[in-house]
Parts: sequence; structure tokens; C-alpha cells
Amino acid sequence: MTTRVALVTGGTGGIGTAICRHLAKLGHKVATNYRDETKARAWQEAQRKDGFEFAIAPGDVADAAAAEAMVREVEKQLGPIDILINNAGITRDTTFHKMNALQWQEVINTNLGSCFNVTRPVIDGMRNRKWGRIVQISSINGQKGQYGQANYAAAKAGMHGFTISLAQENAKFGITVNTVSPGYVGTDMVMAVPEDVRAKIVAQIPLGRLGEPDEIAYAVGFFADERANWITGANLAINGGQYMGW
Ligand code: CAA
Ligand code: NAP
Repeated sequence: MTTRVALVTGGTGGIGTAICRHLAKLGHKVATNYRDETKARAWQEAQRKDGFEFAIAPGDVADAAAAEAMVREVEKQLGPIDILINNAGITRDTTFHKMNALQWQEVINTNLGSCFNVTRPVIDGMRNRKWGRIVQISSINGQKGQYGQANYAAAKAGMHGFTISLAQENAKFGITVNTVSPGYVGTDMVMAVPEDVRAKIVAQIPLGRLGEPDEIAYAVGFFADERANWITGANLAINGGQYMGW
């Protein structure tokens, strides 16, 4: 197995931490970004106690200049980035008739704008080296829509449009580009949904429970694998059976 350099955006969050740890267990060198240095250092220290050494670099993925500086800092610490996981994301849930421009823009810029902001400074190196793995973390709600999430569903659906275009443009450079679309996973993001609303959502999941971050990380590791050479432009839904559209 070849050791690669992986950048996981939003690596300090629920799903991001599981992805960082899984990629590290697969033998890769892993970095993530942060906005709050104190919080990120505490996270890094906690991971170290569990035996994981992660690089961290400052960067708001919604800001193109900050994202580029973050990429350059990771390259300085670990070397060229071979695996990029666009995972950082937020929600600003509210029905559309109550949504303000800030709630729309924050979600679009963070969840979709970040794909441009972070991938753009990484792609040239991957093309020059003729190898790369890019995975977008989209959502079940990008596939099916969700009451209260016009902003989020639009951004998450857009992420897969990004995937399938990049997949076509970069196939001849040995770069695969895929999407993972998780259903409801028990992280802070989902725990912020009011309990009564959440209970109704869980009742719609055939497998009868929220997902675990490790169950998403496993799929990311699959797409990042050397042997996944011929898988590109795919969208893998991992949602306990809540949405089975294709
Ligand atoms: N289907 C149909 N009607 C619904 C509904 C649904 N899914 N959800 C709410 N409603 C109805 C309510 O019953 C209520 O109806 P009445 O007015 O007739 O009583 C009405 O909508 C309430 O509408 P409001 O505009 O007043 O909404 P609100 O301000 O109370 O907030 C909400 C509504 C923000 C959408 C809230 O229901 C909510 O948080 N829903 C969960 C949204 C969600 O799933 N977010 C996912 C977060 S996690 C994540 O994003 C990760 C991931 O990718 C899966
Ligand atoms: P989370 O625990 O809230 O973590 C989100 C991470 O993104 C945090 O590390 C956060 O950093 C980072 N982040 C947010 N905005 C950022 C910005 N502007 N710049 C840099 N980093 C930023 O959420 P999660 O549940 O792990 O979600 C991870 C991804 O999976 C998201 O894209 C989410 O939409 C997607 N997803 C989640 C679920 C689910 O059920 N949980 C389902 C489908 C898809 P800070 O600490 O600085 O805020």
C-alpha cells in the first residue's frame, strides 16, 4: 500500500474525525483545517492520546484565499495532497419563506463554494502527478430534498454536479472524483434537530437507527483506495435505507 497525503476538511467534526482516523489507519498521512485554534489543538491532543498524529492548518473553507493558504500550509507540513475529502459543512435550517439571504449564502458558500475553494488549489498538483482521489460528502437531503433545507439541499445536490463534471475532466489524469451521500448520522449536526422532529426522521429509517460516523468513513476509505481506480463519478448513498432512489 502506498502512503498518501490526505486533506479532510472539517476533520474536527463528527464525521470528519472518523474519516481522519480511518484514513490514518489505512496508512495515510492526514491533515485537517480549523477556524478556532484552541479547539483544534485540543482535538489534535485528544487524537494523539488515541495514537493518531494529524496535521492541522488554519482555514475557513468558505473563503477562497484562506482555503488556498490552508492547502499550501498542509503541503508544507506533509507534502503534495493526493486525497481530498470535501467534508466541512453547516446547516441553517428554516423553511424557505422565513429564510434570509445570510442563511442562504452561508450554507451555499460553506457547503458548495468550499468545493471550488479547496479543490482549485489542489487539482493542478494531482493532474501533474497523474494520481488523485477526491470525495465530496454530500447528503441524503441533496438527493431527496428536505423540509426546512432549501439552502442545504441545493448546496448538497450541487456537490454531486461538481463531482460528475470533475470526474469527466480529470479521468485521463488518473484522478477519480466521487460523492458519498450520508443519511442521518448521530453527530452534533443531527443532534441540533429538535428531538421530536428527529424521532420522526428515525422512524423513517428502515434500519431503525441513526448512522455511525465510522460507517461513512468506511465508504470514503473505499473510494480513496488504490484499487478503486475505475470508480469515478459515482454517488454512494449510505442512509440506513431511508432513501433508495437512484
Ligand atoms: N413535512 C411536512 N410538514 C412539515 C415537516 C415535514 N417534514 N416539517 C415541519 N412541517 C410542518 C409542521 O408540521 C408545521 O405545520 P403547521 O404550520 O401546519 O403546524 C410547519 O411545517 C412548521 O413550519 P414553520 O415554517 O413554522 O417551521 P419551523 O420554524 O417550525 O421550523 C424546521 C421547521 C426548521 C423545518 C424544523 O421542522 C426542522 O428542524 N426540521 C428538520 C430539518 C432537518 O431534517 N434538518 C437536517 C439537519 S441534519 C443534516 O442536515 C445532516 C444531513 O445531511 C442529513
Ligand atoms: P459537524 O460535526 O458539525 O462537523 C462539521 C465540521 O465542518 C467541523 O469540523 C466544522 O469546524 C467544519 N466547518 C464548518 N464550517 C466550516 C468553514 N467555513 N471552514 C472550515 N471548516 C468548517 O458535522 P458532521 O455531521 O460531521 O458533518 C460533516 C459533513 O457531513 C457535512 O458536510 C455535513 O453536511 C455532511 N453530512 C452530515 C450528516 C449527518 O447526519 N451528520 C448527513 C449527511 C451529510 P468548526 O469546528 O470550526 O465549526
